[in-house]
Amino acid sequence: MWTVQWLALGSVLGSAIALTPEQLISAPRRGNAIPNPSGKVALFSTSQYSFDTHSSSSWWSLIDIRSGETAQLTNDSNVSELTWLGSSDSGLLYINSTNADIPGGVELWIADANNFANSRYKAASLAAPFSGLKPAVTKSGDIKFLVYAQSYGNGTAYNEELVSTPLSSARIYDSIYARHWDSWLPTTFNAVFSGTLKKKAAKRYALAGPLKNLVSNIKNLESPYPPFGGSSDYDISPNGKWAAFKSKAPELPRANNTASYIYLVPHDGSKEAEAINGPGSPGTPEGVKGDSSSPVFSPDSKHIAYLQMTDISYEADRRTVYVYKIGSDKTISTLAKDWDRSPDTIKWTADGETLVLATEDLGRERLFTLPVDAEDDYKPSNFTDSGSATAFYSLPECPKKGVTGTLLSANEVDPGLKGLSSKDFDEFYYEGNWTDIHAWIIYPTGFDKSKSYPLLYYIHGGPQGSWADSWSTRWNYKVWADQGYVVVAPNPTGSTGFGDKLTDAIQNNWGSYPYDDLVKGWEYVRDTFDFIDTDNGVAAGASYGGFMVNWIQGNPLGRKFKALVSHDGTFVADSKISTDELWFIEHDFNGTFWANRDNYRRWDPSAPEHILQFDTPMLLIHSSKDYRLPVSDGLALFNVLQERGVPSRFLNFPDENHWVVNQENSLVWHQQVLGWINRYSGVGEKNPNAVSLDDTIVPVVDFNP
Ligand SMILES: *[C@@H]1O[C@H](CO)[C@@H](O)[C@H](O)[C@H]1NC(C)=O
Ligand SMILES: *[C@@H]1O[C@H](CO)[C@@H](O)[C@H](O)[C@H]1NC(C)=O
Ligand SMILES: *[C@@H]1O[C@H](CO)[C@@H](O)[C@H](O)[C@H]1NC(C)=O
Ligand SMILES: *[C@@H]1O[C@H](CO)[C@@H](O)[C@H](O)[C@H]1NC(C)=O
Ligand SMILES: *[C@@H]1O[C@H](CO)[C@@H](O)[C@H](O)[C@H]1NC(C)=O
Ligand SMILES: *[C@@H]1O[C@H](CO)[C@@H](O)[C@H](O)[C@H]1NC(C)=O
Ligand SMILES: *[C@@H]1O[C@H](CO)[C@@H](O)[C@H](O)[C@H]1NC(C)=O
Ligand SMILES: *[C@@H]1O[C@H](CO)[C@@H](O)[C@H](O)[C@H]1NC(C)=O
Repeated sequence: MWTVQWLALGSVLGSAIALTPEQLISAPRRGNAIPNPSGKVALFSTSQYSFDTHSSSSWWSLIDIRSGETAQLTNDSNVSELTWLGSSDSGLLYINSTNADIPGGVELWIADANNFANSRYKAASLAAPFSGLKPAVTKSGDIKFLVYAQSYGNGTAYNEELVSTPLSSARIYDSIYARHWDSWLPTTFNAVFSGTLKKKAAKRYALAGPLKNLVSNIKNLESPYPPFGGSSDYDISPNGKWAAFKSKAPELPRANNTASYIYLVPHDGSKEAEAINGPGSPGTPEGVKGDSSSPVFSPDSKHIAYLQMTDISYEADRRTVYVYKIGSDKTISTLAKDWDRSPDTIKWTADGETLVLATEDLGRERLFTLPVDAEDDYKPSNFTDSGSATAFYSLPECPKKGVTGTLLSANEVDPGLKGLSSKDFDEFYYEGNWTDIHAWIIYPTGFDKSKSYPLLYYIHGGPQGSWADSWSTRWNYKVWADQGYVVVAPNPTGSTGFGDKLTDAIQNNWGSYPYDDLVKGWEYVRDTFDFIDTDNGVAAGASYGGFMVNWIQGNPLGRKFKALVSHDGTFVADSKISTDELWFIEHDFNGTFWANRDNYRRWDPSAPEHILQFDTPMLLIHSSKDYRLPVSDGLALFNVLQERGVPSRFLNFPDENHWVVNQENSLVWHQQVLGWINRYSGVGEKNPNAVSLDDTIVPVVDFNP
């Protein structure tokens, strides 16, 4: 998906002091709150970057689920992936990221939350950098667990530190998918491994036998699936007997379809993994061939719930919920098939009767409940409203209705975020090209509606994606607004969370309906909001949003903006074939590059009639490790803009992929992007505190005569 994705922390905040790029980037970033078995306390990690020391620190804390009080558990940087152990309310298992004996290996340690520093002991030494720890404690007290690492074809875990550097740096490929996201494909692959810790001498746990690779004995299986797959691509049954994992279809090439199956395997690896929903599996629903995800065992270990798309090449196809019955049955039931929403993740409630689904819904990530016996026409109901749920757990004493309280809000405890509130944003719908379109509106700190602020028109990626009520460290609405803009972030044709029709209508329509939706949105804003100055407005977008900004530059809407920002967008229509994920273009342009070239060329920002319209000052950002949309497209557009005499600047990060993640790079990115729009919108002149292009310490290469 060519999209801008979120690193969410909580819900959107707003007001009182301006949020600067430094404050955004250096604010604490918290992980999921993981409750202990009784649901009394939860664990969470925090990491924080400092622009004073230019380094990150991290720590783990406990939060009391009744009072909201937090206490630090440890700030030892060797501790990662702390997790609760079975029924004990204070037992912890974690990965220690150094290994005393094996360079590049890790260790498993056990500790007690009430006395972390003095109770901890080493339970296992693992010979590779394993991660993704998922334990289950059996009735007899054994700890069965799953972890993953890279694997050789022979099943041995790969440890980079133990391998000598090859004499040649050459890479040789016989199958498509030479590279993916930001990495060239190696000969190794991800594999899930199982292991058991047993109580030994002095009642301490120790590893019982070597880890077992559950994936590698079937050629072409891989789990978790890179680059974003992690421990949610597999699960361990609560009784420790089974493991389930997701893998791409081993019988098909990797780059030109989305097919993937859920595999079930005994935890001890005593039998080969078997696809539960593959082409030959008895229960596979008719015609369902797309991507499978999120396998989760029921509390009684007898069922697996999972999600699957129907289409074999459409990565934004609707996900349907399925439940597989383990045993001789092997049946699969389909739940709420007619529901026009696409869940992202699933969990079972403790009684095993209901599933909780996190689902994009009207610009939020809402939680819905679904009974396991739901019929096709069942309509799940949501029990959250605002914000975006990024993780959720079922507590033993689950509140029956809705969200009952907030334990901790970043804007109340983090000095850099103080004063931000939910009052600083709003939403509206307007008449688009063929249907009503939703848009967010985000106000700057100290907003006064009797004044007027330049428009910042925010164009999302995907195109199957959406602007949501969520907090992000990239493309954070509030940071842009606080420079002195009103941000308008529309969800035009192609957007997700508003039903299949809006999402699916983008196919073969990259520059038509969504462009017209954006034109109509701009006109609506101009005619409706007196506090928005559209004469001095600017527009910005990344990925598909970058393509759209490039398209806007060569079309009449481009003349309505004082400046444009295009991040990692395509420019030359024919160059789309150099992308990594072929299924994406073959779906969105409805066919192959050779049989359907007209579809690829229809919305070509590099067509001469569009280039001849280029006139609006444009900042281009394109990074070298972006293998989704290779950097050559950014360079091509920069060549054209410079030769045509359009004010333009090219910003490149040699070490970033489709996203800018490194904190120092992110700071420069914000300074350049905000500095660029501030220069042309007039904000820079009006506000001495606004970010300026000169804030960046990196020298500019300029050999202009
Ligand atoms: C960990 O916390 C202790 C106690 O608060 C502090 O003295 C120490 O500097 C911290 N260490 C790191 C690496 O942050
Ligand atoms: C992590 O473990 C290594 C290896 O024992 C040790 O050298 C290092 O000091 C540890 N780091 C911390 C923060 O304790
Ligand atoms: C991590 O492992 C190293 C090497 O065994 C050990 O020295 C260190 O104390 C451990 N740290 C923690 C927090 O478990
Ligand atoms: C598996 O292959 C790797 C790489 O060739 C090798 O280093 C390792 O020893 C092999 N493992 C076994 C068990 O043969
Ligand atoms: C995908 O690639 C394989 C060969 O790598 C080819 O046989 C198949 O036809 C391709 N699928 C499409 C839709 O082009
Ligand atoms: C469910 O979503 C609707 C909007 O579709 C919202 O009005 C309602 O408050 C939400 N329900 C709960 C319990 O939050
Ligand atoms: C919708 O967009 C299409 C494609 O750009 C255009 O031909 C059509 O006129 C638009 N419809 C309306 C009602 O504006
Ligand atoms: C995609 O191609 C198929 C087969 O040629 C055609 O039936 C369908 O209408 C096309 N879809 C779009 C959106 O162009």
